[in-house]
Amino acid sequence: QYASPAAASLQAAYEIAQLIRDKQAKGERAVLGLATGSTPKRVYKELIRLHREEGLSFKNVTTFNLDEYFPMQPGAVQGYRHFMQENLFNHIDIDQANCHIPDGSIPTELVRSHGEQYETMIADAGGIDFQLLGIGRNGHIGFNEPGSHSSSVTRLITLDMATRMDAAAEFGGIANVPKKAITMGIGTIMKARKIILLAWGENKAAIVRQAVEGPVTEFVPASWLQAHGQVKFMMDDACAGELT
Ligand code: F6R
Repeated sequence: QYASPAAASLQAAYEIAQLIRDKQAKGERAVLGLATGSTPKRVYKELIRLHREEGLSFKNVTTFNLDEYFPMQPGAVQGYRHFMQENLFNHIDIDQANCHIPDGSIPTELVRSHGEQYETMIADAGGIDFQLLGIGRNGHIGFNEPGSHSSSVTRLITLDMATRMDAAAEFGGIANVPKKAITMGIGTIMKARKIILLAWGENKAAIVRQAVEGPVTEFVPASWLQAHGQVKFMMDDACAGELT
């Protein structure tokens, strides 16, 4: 629990930087699972600062993003490729060829094999060392909406109305929010060696309490994380307000 989102974000960025440097020292690559949305933006800002001011290099880093809307054109401003370029990739020395995001622009019939390829690419990279997560107000992680199975893999899902409503402002109205998304599965996320979930503000307090203190249930996908040995929930005071 942290006094502010900024304080928690600095700590999360520090842990990521530490992993990258440890791997660098061993001549290995660091494989990061990344999230979009408002929550991780400050983490990315701090990573950019560490790159600019403290020489943190991302040359040995491979990234896999959690999810992308479907359908979504690669250049679209609401798309997660655009989000990652703007908020991180354009400002660091990462090789863009090592930055993976599910492709929301492929035809529906190719999504299944795309999901399988995504899983294979993660496995071929050696698996995810560190996964950064946010949480939806309905408890989703990635776009694994309530009902997602614990062994689910990268696949096409139908977005909940609540998720689409939360995205409506960005798309200029709910009618413009895609109805589907491609997301890593709960099973994909649970294979990450270390996980940090970030959550800020009182509007996430109730779902964070359910995820941390409630039963492990598919109705709160983030509650599956209770079964992971190396997971940390980082939140600000406002978000921790309902924890006992
Ligand atoms: C984003 C993602 C989602 C978000 C969640 C919270 O890649 O996978 O699970 O983390 O919807 O979104 P924000 O941070 O905008 O509240």
